[in-house]
Amino acid sequence: MLDLRSKFPDYYQYHGRNISKKLSLSNVRILNDYYSKYSLDKKILNISSKTSTEQLLQSNLFKKVIIEVGFGDGEHLIESALSNPKVLFVGSEVYVNGVAKVLKQILDKDIKNIRLCGMNFVYLLNILNQNSIDELKIINPDPWHKKRHFKRRLVNLENIIKIIGIVKNKYASYITTDSESYFNYINEIFSSNSKIIHENKNKILSKNDRLYGVSRYQRKAIKNGKKIYQLTF
Ligand SMILES: C[S@@+](CC[C@H](N)C(=O)[O-])C[C@H]1O[C@@H](n2cnc3c(N)ncnc32)[C@H](O)[C@@H]1O
Repeated sequence: MLDLRSKFPDYYQYHGRNISKKLSLSNVRILNDYYSKYSLDKKILNISSKTSTEQLLQSNLFKKVIIEVGFGDGEHLIESALSNPKVLFVGSEVYVNGVAKVLKQILDKDIKNIRLCGMNFVYLLNILNQNSIDELKIINPDPWHKKRHFKRRLVNLENIIKIIGIVKNKYASYITTDSESYFNYINEIFSSNSKIIHENKNKILSKNDRLYGVSRYQRKAIKNGKKIYQLTF
């Protein structure tokens, strides 16, 4: 992964931090020795128009394919994969420390139903076939609070249209956020583009909801008294 990042920097670029603290030697070793076994990056870089999503993901052995975008330290991704061994989970994350953490757990727990994409999610999104994915989740994307940074937000009209294209069914794409501003921003995208995208459903999550408190980031927000908004489309 580290050599791919230096050879193809554009694919790994995004506006936040890729590495928050220096990678430990053991994490560098894990990435160098095992990342390519679980990663889609090389395949994505070499993809041809003839490669189907099923070939890319080797998903024929699984009942379903679920994508989690921006999995952070991977708590929800690992938990989901362990509790649903017949489902293939594709985790996308540009934060190298998080990728290394997940890779370590994949090895320690011998998890067979996770594939990783360490490059900017947009490159994965662009090459997936229409109607090829069963569910897509974005758990608390970077909020980019300042107005001048809104254009950095991952959830924008272009990506919503693409997500709707690759996900098989309506209302199988989920976004959670603790940012009221981001929540309103996404709602506005749906309401002002109702001719080209179907409408979304919203709720404020509570304890019994499936995606409530599933990540450290979310739990920190809940502890600070924030609401967790969920948008489904
Ligand atoms: C606010 S954090 C939330 C992490 C995790 N979902 C959680 O709730 O703890 C957002 C994550 O999305 C990742 N991310 C942001 N933009 C991305 C992109 N374009 N492709 C893949 N990951 C991205 C960031 O690296 C970061 O780890």
